[in-house]
Amino acid sequence: MTGALDVGQGSGTRIKEALVSSCFGFWLRRWGPGLARANTTYYHLDLNAGPGDNHDAGVRGAASLFVEKLDKYPALSSHVTLIEKSRDSMAALRRRVRNGQGLLPFVARDIDFIQDDNTCALDGYLQRDVPRTAIGSVLCDPNGPVRGMVALPCLAKALLRLPRFLFVAQYDVAAGLRMRGSAQKAPEKKCPTSSVTDILRLPRAHWLISDRYAHGRRYVILCGSHVSLPPYELLRPTDAHPMGVGLHNVTSARGRGIVRSTFSRDERAARKEARRICGIRETE
Ligand SMILES: C[S@@+](CC[C@H](N)C(=O)[O-])C[C@H]1O[C@@H](n2cnc3c(N)ncnc32)[C@H](O)[C@@H]1O
Repeated sequence: MTGALDVGQGSGTRIKEALVSSCFGFWLRRWGPGLARANTTYYHLDLNAGPGDNHDAGVRGAASLFVEKLDKYPALSSHVTLIEKSRDSMAALRRRVRNGQGLLPFVARDIDFIQDDNTCALDGYLQRDVPRTAIGSVLCDPNGPVRGMVALPCLAKALLRLPRFLFVAQYDVAAGLRMRGSAQKAPEKKCPTSSVTDILRLPRAHWLISDRYAHGRRYVILCGSHVSLPPYELLRPTDAHPMGVGLHNVTSARGRGIVRSTFSRDERAARKEARRICGIRETE
């Protein structure tokens, strides 16, 4: 994954779509030609497919951008599963496919549209006959750390069952901080929310994390795989993103710094204290 893309001063959505599609582009470049030669199917699963278009941001949705990449490998057989809970969004996605509004390649592809809750649909997907050795990808792009987020235990089960699927997720840092903060103040509300480390605990050996992007540097993209991935530069420094935007190995200094920045000061202090206590125990 090399080279900077010029996405200008685009909104967070444009940056998200560019980062997500660079991850899938890299994965398809890596495996596509070999799978096509071996006549083996590539699988793709989108857990929050959306309507296929981001009209306000002037950029197509991740589902269509993925297929655009897939289309560069006409000899590659593929199976794409698009899951979306909203009836209207699913209808819009289907309509776009039927009318070929920027999604024409779908017509020639093996594609399942599933209008359902992603946790239920993912459970069903796992009953299917997808080989354990299958190469593929899965996108998790919810509206926040809770709304639209597939249940983490089900996701963990899926990633164990499909160890060679690239996993890509957008995480809303600001909403995660806010929700964990209010859960701390009112523990009786028991709001189930996740953190970046909950995602990093999913069964993948190698992880990239993006710089925080969009207004308030609100989001990050996480990308996990069974083989190591090269870092990637998307945006050179701009006023909105003075450090630029790229994908970094989570074990690098920059990656570790980004992970740290997704926790509040209180959470960082608690983690430091926990490590200090563990350190004391280790030397006892
Ligand atoms: C951020 S949008 C996805 C955008 C899309 N990935 C794209 O790149 O254009 C999140 C989507 O998740 C859908 N969603 C919300 N709850 C869901 C659930 N429980 N299961 C599946 N989809 C859900 C929403 O309707 C919305 O379309």
